[in-house]
Amino acid sequence: MSKLRFPENFVWGAATAAYQIEGAAREDGRGPSIWDTFSRTPGRVFQGHTGDVACDHYHRYADDVALMADLGLAAYRFSIAWPRIRPDGTGPVNPRGLDFYDRLVDTLLGRGIDPFVTLYHWDLPQALEDQGGWTARETAEHFADYAVAVYRRLGDRVRTWTTLNEPWCSAYLGYGNGVHAPGRRDAGAAFRAVHHLLLGHGLASRALRAAGAEVLGITLNLGDVQPADGDSAADAAAVRLVDGLQNRIFLDPLTGAGYPDDVLAHVRRTVEPDFIRDGDEKVIAAPIDLLGINYYSPTYVAGRTDGAGSSAYPGTAGSVEFLPPVGPLTDMGWMIEPAGLTRLLERVAADYPGLPMVITENGGAFPDGVPDAGDRVADTDRVGYLDGHLRAAHEAISRGVDLRGYLVWSLLDNFEWAEGYRKRFGIVHVDYLTQRRTPKESARWYQEVIARNGL
Ligand code: FCB
Repeated sequence: MSKLRFPENFVWGAATAAYQIEGAAREDGRGPSIWDTFSRTPGRVFQGHTGDVACDHYHRYADDVALMADLGLAAYRFSIAWPRIRPDGTGPVNPRGLDFYDRLVDTLLGRGIDPFVTLYHWDLPQALEDQGGWTARETAEHFADYAVAVYRRLGDRVRTWTTLNEPWCSAYLGYGNGVHAPGRRDAGAAFRAVHHLLLGHGLASRALRAAGAEVLGITLNLGDVQPADGDSAADAAAVRLVDGLQNRIFLDPLTGAGYPDDVLAHVRRTVEPDFIRDGDEKVIAAPIDLLGINYYSPTYVAGRTDGAGSSAYPGTAGSVEFLPPVGPLTDMGWMIEPAGLTRLLERVAADYPGLPMVITENGGAFPDGVPDAGDRVADTDRVGYLDGHLRAAHEAISRGVDLRGYLVWSLLDNFEWAEGYRKRFGIVHVDYLTQRRTPKESARWYQEVIARNGL
């Protein structure tokens, strides 16, 4: 295959999230989050796994940063645990919680690694969920207050601020089908949550900008939604509906176009959107500098009146059939189709021009096995996955997409939400009994990609 070079200053990095790696769930004043509650509820997470210890990154962060430096990472995307900063969601700021991120940021900067902060990667303080969580408008306001509290401590050193990670998951999986915390199953609540998450993003963006934040963004798990049959009008209608629920419901209001009419009409079949108040769309349209895109897999749909729909897309039963994924698949059962990433990047660039993008997550879970006697983890499948998707990203760049960076998911094997520790996404293997880290072959491969700035 030909040699590919990425643009100069292309940012290479890796991503993690607080609840998935930190552990130290009760230390230094951290309050409980919805994921602590959910993971303790029998039957919700694989074998009752929790994030109590996870990768113990809270204590091992310095070694983990040394690992990152060894790989040559230019950026590290991590999230801040809201319940460490405001243990009950609204009350006084807990300085010991901020101290941890202060140390982490200084350690990263000391190694020349740019911290990319995500303010919300799903660990809502339980006290706020008890008051309605993201179905309550006040949660959006509390989020903005918390964002500013973090900015006050880290804003002198952190340039890149992301408000939310994947609000689609928070809303539809958290409140719609109950697969994620807080585990509610109510389609109307899911749409409410979408709006309050977006409002929270807008309020926080406004406040952060006023406080002086340089680069502001949001990370979305956008869908590359494809028809089963490219000639079928029914399939095209299914694509439009699913695209509306996954992509346009977020991107249109974020970029100032307001909620699309067809999406609002669909929402109305479930719930009257009286939670959208005058002026909200203006708040949500607060200018952003960067769009983070998480991409793993495409979605194929057909339009069918007997379609089972998907509980992850409220209101799709009776009109949409989601096609089963076709191999090769990852250990999550997700279809591997790098071309979907090229299509997605080109589509966003075409429909929402002028928005620089970064791939804030991409990677694969594979059954890697444990390190062998020579400390090798030969994760050939993962190398293949990453190589294919980097080629796809490069293809998009060569067609003119303004893609600024790539952050692999994930630096470490970690707590994969409802799947617990059984799914491994890391380029570094973690032995959860000893907490020993072993870079897999994909880590060595990625190190070379970074050094060469290409493939
Ligand atoms: C994304 C999440 C991330 C991780 C990957 C596999 O949806 O943002 O935390 O679980 O999927």
